[in-house]
Amino acid sequence: MEIATERLLIKPLGPQYLETYNEYAMNIENARYMCFLPSDTVEESMEFLKKAEEEWLKTAPQFYEFAITFKGVHIGGISVHIEYGKPVLGWIINLKYQGQGFAYESAKAVMEYFSANMGIRYFCAYCDTMNTASYRLMEKLGMKRVKKSGGRKNRASSEESFEYKYEIEL
Ligand SMILES: CC(C)(COP(=O)(O)OP(=O)(O)OC[C@H]1O[C@@H](n2cnc3c(N)ncnc32)[C@H](O)[C@@H]1OP(=O)(O)O)[C@@H](O)C(=O)NCCC(=O)NCCS
Repeated sequence: MEIATERLLIKPLGPQYLETYNEYAMNIENARYMCFLPSDTVEESMEFLKKAEEEWLKTAPQFYEFAITFKGVHIGGISVHIEYGKPVLGWIINLKYQGQGFAYESAKAVMEYFSANMGIRYFCAYCDTMNTASYRLMEKLGMKRVKKSGGRKNRASSEESFEYKYEIEL
């Protein structure tokens, strides 16, 4: 599965991206509001990338992890995880490439692709209530805030926080 946009090529994530994946996945600042990152070790990152690759080989993947590439450079990741039958979006852009509309362009293209090719028209996404960039991105995508709840645990933090849930029906 490859999705081309005006500026980006969005491709299955796998072990070949280890170095560029670690640029954001092992960077605490980049991953401070993420539940499953930052990665502690290169080995842990590799294990995840192998799992992502294996999932792509299945006939009905339960999670789709993409590498976002710009001019041939891997600049971030976007994912669709099927959780309890519902597609959940996730994203992270390497700090060096943020603020240029890359997350928006990727998320829009992924939603349109899933809608057109797989008939998936509902998406949701979660983020820490302090993660302004992420929820503004959701709003720019046309997603609506439907819930605020406690009990979120970002991996880099020792304390629990609150999160928003956003949804969209295309
Ligand atoms: C959230 C994230 C993926 C956005 O990536 P990005 O490529 O910089 O976002 P875009 O440039 O596409 O921005 C889309 C919209 O989001 C909003 N936005 C992005 N960064 C923002 C910021 N720092 N502050 C406020 N709003 C912001 C803006 O509304 C923007 O639209 P605009 O430029 O037309 O105003 C990026 O900040 C990131 O990787 N954060 C760290 C990882 C993370 O927390 N992921 C989410 C976990 S739930």
